[in-house]
Amino acid sequence: MEVSRKLKTAIGKSFPAAVPLVRQFKTQFETLVKLLNFLPLAVSMSQLTFNYGYDFQRFCKWSSLKKKKYSRTQLRALITMDYHRIEKGLALKEPRVGFGENVVKRLLSNLQSYQQTFGLDTTGQIALNSLFAYYNFNRENGVNDDLLYQNISVLRKTIIDSNEITNCGGILKVTKQSILDAAKIELKNFFESRYSIRHFTSEEVDISLIKQAVKMAQKTPSVCNRQSSKVYVFTEDEDKKKVLSYQNGNRGFGDQVSKVLIVTCDLEHFVSIGERNQCWIDGGMFAMSLIYALHSLGLGTCCLNWSVELEIDRELRMVAGVGDSEAIIMMIAVGHIPEQLNIAQSPRKRLEEILIVN
Ligand SMILES: Cc1cc2nc3c(=O)[nH]c(=O)nc-3n(C[C@H](O)[C@H](O)[C@H](O)COP(=O)(O)O)c2cc1C
Repeated sequence: MEVSRKLKTAIGKSFPAAVPLVRQFKTQFETLVKLLNFLPLAVSMSQLTFNYGYDFQRFCKWSSLKKKKYSRTQLRALITMDYHRIEKGLALKEPRVGFGENVVKRLLSNLQSYQQTFGLDTTGQIALNSLFAYYNFNRENGVNDDLLYQNISVLRKTIIDSNEITNCGGILKVTKQSILDAAKIELKNFFESRYSIRHFTSEEVDISLIKQAVKMAQKTPSVCNRQSSKVYVFTEDEDKKKVLSYQNGNRGFGDQVSKVLIVTCDLEHFVSIGERNQCWIDGGMFAMSLIYALHSLGLGTCCLNWSVELEIDRELRMVAGVGDSEAIIMMIAVGHIPEQLNIAQSPRKRLEEILIVN
């Protein structure tokens, strides 16, 4: 500071005309320094904008938001939403006779186009069975909707023997006791004995165990029962290595993993702006169930984050054959647990910090 002050005084005395120039240079220099300081933030912000743009573009492309023509998955999701509205209505304590008239109309019309374009698969049949349960409920309560009955009958006739036939749909009568009996398990120990495992044996995980776990995870709740989650399984060493090379959290144990799973969520199941983040919720919940299901089968798992930028997301999608309409939620490393191993303690916060009782 002292040197700079002396220099200024010397310049001022020797070259008075240079003083304004020096001042101007100083101001410009300071502005440049400020700009340079701001540069990393500006770069991050523009990258963030591009990444939001990537999510935005994918949601616009694949959700059924304002679409005039639907893909099979989109139409199936819309049908599922509506038949589920009927099931929900019928599951109330006192359903209103004739409830959901508009939903029923829309469902019938969507079912008719679905049948014409794709045929009545299990989703179509479940929807039809739900409509029939609705018809019966109204009839038992004194309202006989003949037109609805005719429409259901016409659609029913189109189900051919080669279709997978299902009787599901509508409501199920259960007792509290049956739920309590089935849920009577010591869950606290089960939860507390699940750790993220980062050390596996060389024993291969049988694919039947993965299938069993995925089947169990299918019971995960999802928005309007739309079931948008999918699981990709990688078994071959070369494939696992390739897929894991895009993920930065498996260093030191990735090579021991018997199966690598990629959990995805299909954006074609979402219909409105409000649902723009729904895939992360439904996909995340599904992944959690899958992890607990694998835990219940005695397998070790470690979630592997997929918090990546668009370029890497695109690359993995291509390498792993993940459909363009799907968002990648996370990977899961699966393997057999060795007899003895170390786990990270990962202590949890105090309950009072996260539980707000009002
Ligand atoms: C979405 C998600 C991503 C994760 N990614 C990684 C990862 O890349 N590598 C890793 O070693 N652990 C990963 N974990 C594991 C967490 O570190 C771990 O769940 C946390 O520390 C709690 O420990 P616990 O699972 O043993 O209870 C991830 C967990 C979640 C939920």
